[in-house]
Order: sequence, then structure tokens, then C-alpha cells
Amino acid sequence: MDHHFYRDTWAEINLDAIKANINAFQNHLPNETGIIAIVKANAYGHGALQTAKAALEAGAARLAVALLDEALLLRKAGFTVPIHVLGWVHPKDVQIAAEYNIELTIFQLEWLDETKEHISMPVKLHLKVDTGMGRLGTTTFTELKEIVKEIKHSKWLTLEGVFTHFATADEPNSSLFYRQHDRFQQVLQLLKELDSTPHIIHTSNSAAAIQLPEKSYQFIRLGISMYGLQPSPELAPPFQLHEAFSLHSCLTHVKQVQKGDTISYGAAYEASETEWIGTIPIGYADGWLRKIGAQGEVIVEGERVPIVGRICMDQMMIRLPKKMNIGTKVTLIGSQQNERISIDDLAKQLDTINYEIPCMISNRVPRVFYKDNKKIGCVNGFQNL
Ligand SMILES: Cc1ncc(COP(=O)(O)O)c(C=O)c1O
Repeated sequence: MDHHFYRDTWAEINLDAIKANINAFQNHLPNETGIIAIVKANAYGHGALQTAKAALEAGAARLAVALLDEALLLRKAGFTVPIHVLGWVHPKDVQIAAEYNIELTIFQLEWLDETKEHISMPVKLHLKVDTGMGRLGTTTFTELKEIVKEIKHSKWLTLEGVFTHFATADEPNSSLFYRQHDRFQQVLQLLKELDSTPHIIHTSNSAAAIQLPEKSYQFIRLGISMYGLQPSPELAPPFQLHEAFSLHSCLTHVKQVQKGDTISYGAAYEASETEWIGTIPIGYADGWLRKIGAQGEVIVEGERVPIVGRICMDQMMIRLPKKMNIGTKVTLIGSQQNERISIDDLAKQLDTINYEIPCMISNRVPRVFYKDNKKIGCVNGFQNL
């Protein structure tokens, strides 16, 4: 895993923070509730393999992802725990999932019909019920009964789990959240009557687990807060979260400019006096969006400084309070001395949610992993190109 890289921009992933967050949830939840670590989208940009390993070491029992490709990546890397694909997998690909013992999501009769044509070994399914998210899942009892009946009669398919996903669990006092709970209760009752209660029931994302830990069933599906982020600004957990992701770069050029000199494309920034300008090698191709430029700040030598001029594909400029050395560390997300720019700060500035921020930092930015406060390796996107 120790892939060297030659650029001066990197993300640091604090695996101890991920472990601390999982432990905090374990303390918050009933004893019998376990944790499914959600590591889709390269673990929300944190690095799927390393995050999954840290999550399992901290006590998570299962992994879940959005895509079959993501599940296969984990399985082929040697993870032996149950891995569940939350999204829709093409019926022609169910056999490959079965070969790698990957659990799938079921909610369509047509899917079952087509899958039967392609499968010749056992595969475990989780029934997804749409109780109000309006994305994936069965919406009627008739449909649900048919699916359960078909699975019972099938040679290779077994019902391992049942689940639903909340649309408004991150809003305190949302009536839809409670309605979804009630609808799911009715589904569980129906499954009981059909004598088909699967042994794994899971409904809660981070927000639901924070709000209603006592309604967590066998497992919660822990995503955003495993990475140390609140599901929404309104939903603070009653325990401390530790942000795992930070982003850094270094000055590669420093120069003095005179009043009237302009910086970057479009000459959109003009020095109003004699100024020190630093260049750093990160740009929109790294997921550091042009839109950040307008009011963006970074931290250098413990001080917040502004981004000046348009962000380019690979570089951007910042205004320095004084002459600084090439190689000086610049923090774009995270802490330096007493200053901190959090993922939430950046999300607010970009008028988006914190989920989007680590996801948008591209794989051109190497992820460097820290465990027990020591650097233990890195993943460099260039290795796979
Ligand atoms: C089906 C499902 N379950 C769980 C999660 C995890 O949610 P969160 O990151 O809010 O904890 C997600 C993420 O979007 C999801 O799609």
C-alpha cells in the first residue's frame, strides 16, 4: 500500500478518528445492535479498503456499498465479512455476485424472473421496502407478498435481510420519519404472518441512529458520522465526532506583486498594493472546484489567508501576509495551530452538504493513512491508471 507519490498535495485520513466514531456509536446503541459500515463511493472519498479495515477492527460486523463493482473490489482485496450491495444490480450479473458471496438488494418481481435465468448457485438477498424515500423498494403489500413467495420457491435465492431508508431522519421532529417507522412496522408484521422474517433487519442511517438509537433493530447502516461528520447542521449527536479527512498542499512558488498586477485567468484579481502571492498545486481537476475561489480561504503558518484569482485546473494562488518559503505547508481542510477549516465550513460556503466535500476530491489526490498517530501508508490514484 505504500505507493510513493511526487506531488505536493495530499489528503490525510485519520483511521483513529473512524475507530473513535464507531466506538461512540456502539456506546450510544443498544448492546444487541451491530454496525454495517457504509463504504460506498471509495468510503465517501476516504479510501474504501483502509476505511473498511479500520471499521471492522473497531467492531463493525458488515460492509455495504452502492455498486457491485465496489463490493467486488472489497472481496477481491480479501475481506471475508458479509458485503451487501444497496443499489440495483443487473440480473445478468447476479451470478458473479453469488460467486463472490456478495449479498444483493431485491424489490422487483421482474428482477426475480430475469435473475432465475442467470443463477446457478446460492445468493442472499435483502428485501428493500420503500416506506417514504421514493427511491428504491417495494411500495405495496401485494408486491411484497409476491416477492417473498417467489423467493421461498426459488432454488438459489434466500431472504437474508429486510430494510428501508429514511428520507428525513436528519431533520429533528420530522413527521415523515415517524410515518416511515410505522410503515416499516407494518411490513415486519406482514413478514411475520408470512413466516418469512429475515434474521437481519436494518433501517437506520447515521441520523436515525443518533435520533432514535432504541429503534435500531439488528444493525445500523453507518455512513457520514463514521467519517466524523454530522448528518445535518441541526442534528448534533450527544457525543463527540472526530473528522477523519483533511486536505493539504505546499507552496510551490512565492513572489511579490505590485499594485495593479493581476492574477490568474481573466485577470479577475488585481493587487491593491504590494502583495506576496503564493502558488499551490491543487485545482479543479483535483475536485477543488472553481466555485470555491470567490470566498475561499486556506491556512498557512496557522493563519487564514484568501484564495486570489480563478482556480485553475491544477493550481491556484493565495495572498500571503509576508514572504514565505517554497514548501511551506498549506491546509485547505483541517487544522493548523489554532485555525481550522472544517468540511462543514466548506459545504456551507458551497451551498451544499458535507457528504459532497470528501467525495468530490478526486483520486488524483493521494490519500495518506494515519493509525495510532503514525503514517501507515498511502493510496495514490496514479498507480491504477
Ligand atoms: C441505503 C443507504 N443506507 C445507509 C446510508 C448511510 O447514510 P449516512 O451516510 O447518512 O449515514 C446510505 C447513504 O446514502 C444509503 O444510501
